[in-house]
Amino acid sequence: MSIKHRILQAGLLTSLLISLQSLAAPIEIKFSHVVAENTPKGKMALRFQELVKERLDGKVEVKIYPNSQLFGDNKVLEAMLLGDVQMAAPSLSKFQKYTKQLQVFDLPFLFDDINAVDRFQSSDAGQKLLQSVKRRGLVGLGYLHNGMKQLSASDDIRVPADIAGKKFRIMTSDVLQAQFEVVDAIPLKKPFSEVFTLLQTRAIDGQENTWSNNYSKKFFEVQPYMIESNHGVLDYMVVTSAEFWNSLPDDLRAPIKQALDDAIAYGNKISLEKADEDRQLIIDSGMTKVSELTPEQRSQWVNAMKPVWKEFEDEIGADVIQAALDANKSN
Ligand code: SIN
Repeated sequence: MSIKHRILQAGLLTSLLISLQSLAAPIEIKFSHVVAENTPKGKMALRFQELVKERLDGKVEVKIYPNSQLFGDNKVLEAMLLGDVQMAAPSLSKFQKYTKQLQVFDLPFLFDDINAVDRFQSSDAGQKLLQSVKRRGLVGLGYLHNGMKQLSASDDIRVPADIAGKKFRIMTSDVLQAQFEVVDAIPLKKPFSEVFTLLQTRAIDGQENTWSNNYSKKFFEVQPYMIESNHGVLDYMVVTSAEFWNSLPDDLRAPIKQALDDAIAYGNKISLEKADEDRQLIIDSGMTKVSELTPEQRSQWVNAMKPVWKEFEDEIGADVIQAALDANKSN
């Protein structure tokens, strides 16, 4: 055999080996998120990774990037559409570029509590909203709870007048912007990864977040006052891109979805426990004074912020808002 033939043969062999190797390589799911691992989302992602490993026998591998290591929430959906990441679970407040309907979750004082949020998410109207990002190339795979938001500040706050003129960090949501503007505060849209430093350096006066995020990101250490306002919800939508989802072999898509559903059920269960646990840890730390609102103080917040609903009714849909309100009735 001539040298030329031998080189050709070796080249063919190498490409055959490479293709065999790539055939055997697991499908990779990069899961990017911004919170700590010891949170409902962090733990849900870890459980998903574990279940996929257990059930899919090396055919699929989940790689998790927590703490904004790979992408912040404001970039992750663009990156997903470019194929640089396959799964994420941004807060529902961070989807407004993709759909206006999810803004329903940001309306202040809409839901009585997290159980009402859960009922709405499970209802037909709630499930339909998972599809609202479809026309933008995303697939909503499920909701995940974090919990109800509380207000924290560098000064003692009890009533809306106390935050007038004060700077509050918000997620990238026009509803949240309106919620603070309506009480004459100054909302600033900032990434989650910057919140601690902004608070610590007093570049901002306060923020709103869940017990879990306040605890795991140590916001309570740099915010001497908190009120148990429970004025809104911070939950997530687990998403992937339609391109990635549709490219999966049929026999893998269903078990991946099942593993995710199971992980979400686990995440939702621990979100309730974590909210109580982290609330208590914050109170016990003695680093921040946590105050409950009197019914009269609470009514002041509700009355001041509720007009925001009307402002966003056309974008969200009156029917969607009504369906959310209906979920406040437990039967
Ligand atoms: C998150 O819980 O994913 C972050 C929420 C935030 O940006 O405040």
